[in-house]
Amino acid sequence: MRNLIDIMDLSKAEINDMLDLADDITAHKEKYWESCKHMKLATLFFEPSTRTRLSFEAAMIELGGNVIGFSTADSSSAMKGETVEDTCRIVSQYVDIIAMRHPKEGAPVAAATTIEVPLINAGDGGHYHPTQTLTDLLTIRNEMGTMDDLTIGIVGDLKYGRTVHSLIKAMSRYKKIKFILISPKELEIPYYLKKWMNDENLEYIETNSLEEYMSEIDVLYMTRIQQERFFDINEYNRLKNSFILTPEKLIDAKKTMRILHPLPRVNEITREVDKDPRAAYFRQALNGKHIRMALILTLLKWAEEGR
Ligand code: CP
Repeated sequence: MRNLIDIMDLSKAEINDMLDLADDITAHKEKYWESCKHMKLATLFFEPSTRTRLSFEAAMIELGGNVIGFSTADSSSAMKGETVEDTCRIVSQYVDIIAMRHPKEGAPVAAATTIEVPLINAGDGGHYHPTQTLTDLLTIRNEMGTMDDLTIGIVGDLKYGRTVHSLIKAMSRYKKIKFILISPKELEIPYYLKKWMNDENLEYIETNSLEEYMSEIDVLYMTRIQQERFFDINEYNRLKNSFILTPEKLIDAKKTMRILHPLPRVNEITREVDKDPRAAYFRQALNGKHIRMALILTLLKWAEEGR
């Protein structure tokens, strides 16, 4: 059974096929209106979400299927002490596919061992967020017209930012990719990821300046400093305003640069930047629905084929 726990569960060719399918869905929605008729998706969200949960639900509905699930752990029997493995095992008897978000890293791996329908990791703690990465890849391809030869500036919380970890791994497979990692020292990428980047001979620079490399960047990937991941509120308060993107800070940026953000934002991009045509984050959120339609279709097809 194929699941999607880590973006590296998919080959580069499989990802490219999925991006192509998402483009076809965008162009010819009516072709897919009955693709998942009589099928059900469960969205099991043990942690809050707007985009991921609702775009999964909209995706399944637009494919002609139905959705059940919960949006908070406290409306499920997790509150009575049920394990995530048992919850997923039970729900897998009711549905054809599950999308799950959980605050604990590794929870989707544990859950996947007990079920016989495809499981999608919709974010596990500070670990991975592969469907956001598919969204990001689709956005980069559509906005830049290529996935190769790009300088990607990643800004903010690189320590706890699960979208960042998945994006670095996914983009490492493309040619001539350079990363500019922009964060305060305290929120640098985790050691295991830096070691992996070194082992893979990836090109990267670490800096705590948003402006220093702005003129070189093709894709500026902003992230929020995530209050919910901090153990010490004073540390969060000290770091929360580390980087705030304003129109003035974009003066040296390329005209072709694109600004992405997985959202939600707090204050790290001012509202004035939204008017800049390089701001792609709202288009990116719409791409999230189309790529999740492509993902649901692909995983259900693989399950039917016994893969
Ligand atoms: N990008 C993202 O995961 O947003 P939500 O937390 O709203 O799902």
